[in-house]
Amino acid sequence: MDTIEPNGVIGRATPRIDGAAKVTGRAVYGADNGPHDTLYAALRTSDIARGHILSIDRSKALAIPGVHLILTYENARTLPGKHLMQGGYMSSGFAPLGSNEVHYSGQTVAIAFADTFEAAEQAANALDIRYAAETPTASIGDPGMDAWSEPKAQGKTELTVGDADAAFAAAPVKVDAVYETSPQHHNPMELFQTTCAWRDEKLTIWESTQSPRGLQYGVAEQLSVKPEDIEVLSPFVGGAFGSRGQPPHYTALIAYGARTLGKPVKLVVTRRQGFTQRTFRAETRHHVRLAASRDGRLQALSHESWELTSRDDMYAVAGSSNTARLYACPNIATKVHNVRADRQTPGFMRAPPEFPYLFAYESAMDELSYALGMDPIQLRRVNDTPTDPVDKLPFSSRSLMPCYDLAAQTFGWSRRDPRPKSMRDGDWLVGYGCATAYYPANIGAAQARITLFPDNRAPNRLRAKVEIGTQDIGNGAYTIMAQTASDRLGVPVERIEVAIGNSFLPAAPITAGSNSAASTCNAVAHACDQLKASLTGPVTEPVSMTVDNIPDGLQADALQKVAVGKPGMIGGVAKQNLRFAFGAHLVEVRVHAATGELRVARAVGAFAAGRIINPITAKSQLMGGQIWGIEAALTEGTDIDHKRARYMNADFAEYHVAVNADIGEVVTLTVPESDTAINPLGIKGVGELGNTGMNAAVANAVFHATGVRVRKIPIRLDDVMSGLPELQQA
Ligand code: MOS
Repeated sequence: MDTIEPNGVIGRATPRIDGAAKVTGRAVYGADNGPHDTLYAALRTSDIARGHILSIDRSKALAIPGVHLILTYENARTLPGKHLMQGGYMSSGFAPLGSNEVHYSGQTVAIAFADTFEAAEQAANALDIRYAAETPTASIGDPGMDAWSEPKAQGKTELTVGDADAAFAAAPVKVDAVYETSPQHHNPMELFQTTCAWRDEKLTIWESTQSPRGLQYGVAEQLSVKPEDIEVLSPFVGGAFGSRGQPPHYTALIAYGARTLGKPVKLVVTRRQGFTQRTFRAETRHHVRLAASRDGRLQALSHESWELTSRDDMYAVAGSSNTARLYACPNIATKVHNVRADRQTPGFMRAPPEFPYLFAYESAMDELSYALGMDPIQLRRVNDTPTDPVDKLPFSSRSLMPCYDLAAQTFGWSRRDPRPKSMRDGDWLVGYGCATAYYPANIGAAQARITLFPDNRAPNRLRAKVEIGTQDIGNGAYTIMAQTASDRLGVPVERIEVAIGNSFLPAAPITAGSNSAASTCNAVAHACDQLKASLTGPVTEPVSMTVDNIPDGLQADALQKVAVGKPGMIGGVAKQNLRFAFGAHLVEVRVHAATGELRVARAVGAFAAGRIINPITAKSQLMGGQIWGIEAALTEGTDIDHKRARYMNADFAEYHVAVNADIGEVVTLTVPESDTAINPLGIKGVGELGNTGMNAAVANAVFHATGVRVRKIPIRLDDVMSGLPELQQA
């Protein structure tokens, strides 16, 4: 594979080219885009989690002035288009208005269309709906759950190397524990929304999405219209993290309403409804058995897990297919089970597999370090490996221990007294903890169009335009596209226009799996180099070239898949090697001895993710991940009403997203790493890496501070009370 050696702009700290537009309000998001003379839609969602609708009385709703249409299963199920709410692009095979069945609490049961938002909302709430309710199953361990051991998973659900049971039985030092993670729900700052407008049989959709093409082709399939008649616009996205990866069921219904009523329609989903209108991170349970010889070398890893899913879909993240390869270990057994309950189908959320599975594995590693009497960083060093223990393939590069070394030096890890509950500062118990960050380096096929323009005012200078169908979900895509083109063309960043966020642009993958920087920067660099090579003299009129980029290891059809909005990526466990980014989290936790107040006072993260295109935007991605990890360990989680199978804290008052006051000092460092075995620019991606392992690092520091091992996140005050000396005296 050819490598690309940057000329200095790739890798330079460059402020966001869209930064001024964002902070001055000129960057227009989601519902603020599109026509302003729209009708408004409002959702009505189910009050029960399981059963069916007996009757819907619409008389009061239709009597409200300005109400035009109420869609329920009674009229929606007979609509044209055989897949109106289904299709291969959706996160679920269940169509909420396809029948009178209710499969989860918060399911859409009606959509009201009216002249104003207020009338639509009033009409939705005025529907008199009678249900035949059945007793629902809420979560893992509740009565009525079905467990399945062959889920439709993102990764392999079962790995076997050697004999883990026998090795565990024979080993001198072991840990045998159960870990749990709570559900989390997507709460990006920008509410979920769509605006749909028809003109001359052509549909325009203004919707913030991670995949304009996925939405274009998905809605085309649902409405039985040609994809080329649907344009999706998503210029700025106010947070996504997996929530905006797949089309929601409501977009096609809103488009249908807009066509029927002959006017554009806008829907903004409320914060509370957002908890069930999109996917979520499901709760998980893990039984981990870990054994080592006295020198700390792992002898056995057994990781059996249970993931919640819906009755309709077998969704599992199966993270052990990646995490079991993290350290050298001769005997490995993993198994993943799905548990079905009466809930909506879960889906992607930032580092879907590694976030829950590393919490379990990296907590167990910490427990093992105490059982061995070994420093937890030293335990990782002893088990560091250049080859993966399952398929014996080499890691394309692996800078785990350099990350620990840099983080430890910066943090002052040597000041750690290894004994739990030994460090104290006044009223505060102090604990140091660590854990590994680990995430696959993915890349997909993409096309890019580059145009060079002469500038008549400055004859020796050029302008350039980059067109590529990626999108900026806050990751800095606009800026790194401009940097890449600038680097390759020699045109200054400020003379480069970047066009992204439109389904009609040259095809690029969904912004997911941390693939975007690798996929799009390599495509743009390749296209620029091709265009430059084609020039035979000075640029006197616009010259343009559209170039395909199919990364090594992918087939030509990868680009055809991307072009119709489907994933076509390679990474993680690839054919010849393992491609992963690594990092080390070190944290200082403080627990108030009398009140149990939990604080992460300091977090130092060091990450190695190949070439960093822009240290500013990369740091922001990694730091955001660290902060999410702290929040996930201490505050963020959805509480379930186990009797009614519904969410009890579906709002910002009760669903605790961290604010500034919750977060102490966060230090984000990168370790230089060159890896051109994975792609010509050697990019690994940083979107999800920072979020992995942090939950375990915090739990491990809580143990060091208090002597209390908490095996479930988020960790609450009452979880650590038994370790608090003042409280015990009182
Ligand atoms: Mo992101 S969770 O990979 O959509």
